[in-house]
Amino acid sequence: MAEKPQHQPLLYFKHQKGDLLINQLPISQLIHRVGQTPFFAYDRSVIEAKVSELRQAFGPDISLHYAIKSNPMPALVDYITPLVDGLDVASGKELTVALNSGINPEKVSFAGPAKQVNELLMAIASGITINIESETELKRIISLCENHQYKANIALRINPNFDLKSSGMKMAGGPQQFGIDAEQVDTIAELLKHPSLNVNGLHIFTGSQNLQAHAIIEAHKHILELAIQIAEQLQLKLQHLNIGGGLGIPYFPGETSIELEPIAANLKRLLAEYQTQLNNTEIILELGRFLVGESGVFVSKVVDVKQSRDHTFIITDGGLHHHLAASGNFGQVIRKNYPVKIANKMDQNDSIKADIVGPLCTPLDILAKNMTFPDVEIGDLVAVFQSGAYGYTASPKDFLSHPYPLEVLI
Ligand SMILES: Cc1ncc(COP(=O)(O)O)c(C=O)c1O
Repeated sequence: MAEKPQHQPLLYFKHQKGDLLINQLPISQLIHRVGQTPFFAYDRSVIEAKVSELRQAFGPDISLHYAIKSNPMPALVDYITPLVDGLDVASGKELTVALNSGINPEKVSFAGPAKQVNELLMAIASGITINIESETELKRIISLCENHQYKANIALRINPNFDLKSSGMKMAGGPQQFGIDAEQVDTIAELLKHPSLNVNGLHIFTGSQNLQAHAIIEAHKHILELAIQIAEQLQLKLQHLNIGGGLGIPYFPGETSIELEPIAANLKRLLAEYQTQLNNTEIILELGRFLVGESGVFVSKVVDVKQSRDHTFIITDGGLHHHLAASGNFGQVIRKNYPVKIANKMDQNDSIKADIVGPLCTPLDILAKNMTFPDVEIGDLVAVFQSGAYGYTASPKDFLSHPYPLEVLI
């Protein structure tokens, strides 16, 4: 019989006397320090390790931007800002968090459809770069600049005519609400000459959560070719080219970490090939989950252990409303388990098969389905790993009106 796929071993977490260590702090001590369950804990040392992995692979010629949407906790943003080369925001509130970190506004970009007029004005007044998503948005920016005598830094977000293969989420190719279709850029050529605009680059973001190096490699080739073609067509001097991100992390059984080296080698080769055209262009990778996803652990406490017919249910004070993605209800077609462990019994062998469920009155409230665990008792701590991105802020925390989880950066 074929072996069942397993979760990739946890690469960044160790344990001591049975206790999970989060940045060297044993979980039993950490819960006293936090003062409540459930909570999300983010480990600084893991974030630093992820930045180092990227720097080692890509070297100094590729800039790294952090996409705040993946985890906008202000303390985390403040921590990561000096480690990366820039920040990408998706709303006025994220922009405020970014600027509060003390970053140079020239290192911040703002992408996303339906930016509100007040958000555009915030962006123009602060001097960040706005990634233009449509002709309407471009006209709005011009009119704001005329009304307030500002100059705006903008980049064009392009929706290419190719997609990112094998991606968890495709965000380019075909019809999209994101960016301006590559074949339509001519229609805005005249508007781009407006004196209140400083057009400083292009943004081509093709997708998210990809674990296949070959797919990213193929996309990078097409992205660079397209960017060069559009820059020539519109006679733009590209100060920067944001080639998106897409680097995924392994969440589910059978998945493994994406290989960075072939991606970096390919980029190096492409940049050598297009040296003339991209001579003074900063190449930017824009990453969220790859930087922070593996740093986060969602911790909840066992409130009840219940036998129903032939099945064991471990019931915790944390659930779907705190961590929608781990429950399988955030974009998964077929539900799969995140890596889940009993955080105070890391050294014990598995002896039971059980579901771990949350406190909500819905069968969708599942943190683990048919997984094996050591003997679990009331008061034990459940750790859901790979929870540093799209956890706290991507969850419906008011659903059933339970208390909110806390977030801590350790
Ligand atoms: C424009 C943009 N940048 C960055 C990201 C971050 O993606 P990830 O967290 O998968 O790296 C996204 C995700 O949807 C995005 O839409």
